[in-house]
Amino acid sequence: MAEKIVVTGAAGFIGSHVVDALLARGDVVVGIDNFDSFYDPDLKRANLADAMLHPSFELVEADVRDTAAMRRVIDAFHPDAIVHLAARAGVRPSIADPALYAAVNVLGTTVILDAARAAKVARLVIASSSSVYGNDATPPFREDDNAITPISPYAATKRAAELMCEAYAGLCDWMKIISLRFFTVYGPRQRPDLAIHSFTRRISAGEPIPFFGDGTAERDYTYITDTVQGVLGAVDRSRTSKPGHEIFNLGESAVTTLSELVILIERALGMTAKLQRLPAQPGDVRRTLADITKARKLLGYAPSVQVRDGIPRFVAWFRESGIGAASATTAARG
Ligand SMILES: NC(=O)c1ccc[n+]([C@@H]2O[C@H](COP(=O)([O-])OP(=O)(O)OC[C@H]3O[C@@H](n4cnc5c(N)ncnc54)[C@H](O)[C@@H]3O)[C@@H](O)[C@H]2O)c1
Repeated sequence: MAEKIVVTGAAGFIGSHVVDALLARGDVVVGIDNFDSFYDPDLKRANLADAMLHPSFELVEADVRDTAAMRRVIDAFHPDAIVHLAARAGVRPSIADPALYAAVNVLGTTVILDAARAAKVARLVIASSSSVYGNDATPPFREDDNAITPISPYAATKRAAELMCEAYAGLCDWMKIISLRFFTVYGPRQRPDLAIHSFTRRISAGEPIPFFGDGTAERDYTYITDTVQGVLGAVDRSRTSKPGHEIFNLGESAVTTLSELVILIERALGMTAKLQRLPAQPGDVRRTLADITKARKLLGYAPSVQVRDGIPRFVAWFRESGIGAASATTAARG
């Protein structure tokens, strides 16, 4: 049955794929995004190019911190569910501007929760992050592991947003809130700041890549189609689940070292990387690895794209998109 869904952060990497998938299955979608300047807003407009042509999609350009605007949109559309993905993402930039991260990620999430409460929208799916586990939990991370020692402002804001969900679920005993801890997501439209995208761009331009630490840092990389399947699984679960706040890991449940990642990108590009060796960065966790037993069981989550297949797919998209050529031209212009 078609549903009405609000997606915040709709023009972003994950948001635009979620919008496309909801539209493809027949849902009616209102997307909210403020096209912030974290990266080129033109890339975000390109992400939504197909959705903008779809009769069941409407875009609202607004800031999730704007209480009046969020109430207006959510009251008027009265969605069956809200998928809240808008955020300031990224660990390292959060160290440079922690107050902005707190405002968008904690206040913004609170505004969305409260607009949902006021409009009696019961079902929310909210983006969290593997970074909430910090360096203290022992991989593979389980949802019931302690997540009380974040090592970056970004991680702290994501955990704070989860706790706000917990508070709302306690106060409003009819709300069903699902927090999804994404583990490094990649694929077409990936944010240009993230390692796979920025390495691919730099290697293809013949530029050195910043290589932090000794290359043994491990990440659980998740291909975007798998993440989207998990998000839709959460939307569907919230139709029949009991009220409350639930947390799920969405990862691939496999680790790749930084050195292995570079080799995979080199192979897919048919080029060799020049490494600019730099010390490990503050805020970066040593290792992420998801235990996805809970998501498999309750969301029907079944990730299927391993990193050795996903990286060539990303590189193929990167070449087709012309992003590399565009950034080379910009760089040449200075
Ligand atoms: N990509 C990952 O690997 C990853 C990992 C863990 C968690 N997450 C979370 O997933 C979500 C989506 O991440 P993404 O990688 O697609 O990032 P993204 O930056 O591509 O998308 C976020 C979108 O939110 C919008 N936005 C930012 N501030 C806003 C505001 N104040 N009001 C309205 N819109 C605003 C941006 O313009 C952008 O389009 C975020 O909540 C992020 O924290 C992502």
